[in-house]
Amino acid sequence: MARVSGRSCIVTGAAQGIGRAIGEALLDEGADVCFADINADKVADVAALNQGRGAGRVTHARVDVTDRAQVRAMIDHAVAVFGKLDVKFNNAGVNKPMNFLDVTEENWRFIMDVNGLGCLIGMQEAARQFIRQGTFGKIINTASVASRQGFDNVAPYCASKWGVVSLTQSGARDLARHDITVTGFAPGVVATEMWEQVDRDLMEIGAAERPGQAMEEFSAEILKGRVARPEDVTGTTTFLASRDSDYMTGQIVMIDGGMTLV
Ligand SMILES: NC(=O)c1ccc[n+]([C@@H]2O[C@H](COP(=O)([O-])OP(=O)(O)OC[C@H]3O[C@@H](n4cnc5c(N)ncnc54)[C@H](O)[C@@H]3O)[C@@H](O)[C@H]2O)c1
Repeated sequence: MARVSGRSCIVTGAAQGIGRAIGEALLDEGADVCFADINADKVADVAALNQGRGAGRVTHARVDVTDRAQVRAMIDHAVAVFGKLDVKFNNAGVNKPMNFLDVTEENWRFIMDVNGLGCLIGMQEAARQFIRQGTFGKIINTASVASRQGFDNVAPYCASKWGVVSLTQSGARDLARHDITVTGFAPGVVATEMWEQVDRDLMEIGAAERPGQAMEEFSAEILKGRVARPEDVTGTTTFLASRDSDYMTGQIVMIDGGMTLV
């Protein structure tokens, strides 16, 4: 049987990049998937393109993960369509590089709001739904290599992703009594629009001189010898959504091609 047959899943940040790939891989293995994103048009297009892709059903929702009412509405929508929620991916994330001494309160709050608070609200509201249903549930958070090391020019992003690790651990401890597991995965450098933007931003702040330089330098230590594609993480994300990982909780799985050995 496919690994996630019959499991009802929501993936945030699913209009592109890693989130879209997570949702598509879940569909390929039999899950029902709600693609959710702040970009309403793009996520609607992704859902439409994926109708009929797997055995499961497809829907979509526009959500700002920092807004609790919108997160609740997204969960209510998925439950109305699929009948229940089993798996919630808190994947939406943002970055905006700045030199350490230039980091502003605005930059800090923007990144911490989406990556930190958005993750907390997503975990809380998914857990409340699982408790209402009286069922086992799984929460899966997107961390990063930036959850393991502080990198230059992206201090608030690193702080936010270290926060995702501690939310995963705290959530796992708090929610275990409800038969809810919380795990996460930590990609290294994945070729997505986020990285294209980071590359441009690093040039703008003088941390790189030519397009692609920052990504090359950042990736130089990857033991696998190349950056990841979104599809490189989906074997693991589907595993984390599947029955095969039901006994795992509080753990972050690194998927960085051997970039950081911690
Ligand atoms: N690309 C990488 O190298 C990399 C590495 C490690 C971790 N990550 C993490 O993986 C996740 C996905 O990254 P990606 O590379 O696919 O990025 P991406 O920029 O390609 O996609 C992120 C998606 O999140 C959505 N989003 C942003 N703010 C939102 C909000 N407030 N509410 C709802 N949706 C919102 C965007 O519209 C976009 O569709 C992020 O959490 C990112 O931090 C990425």
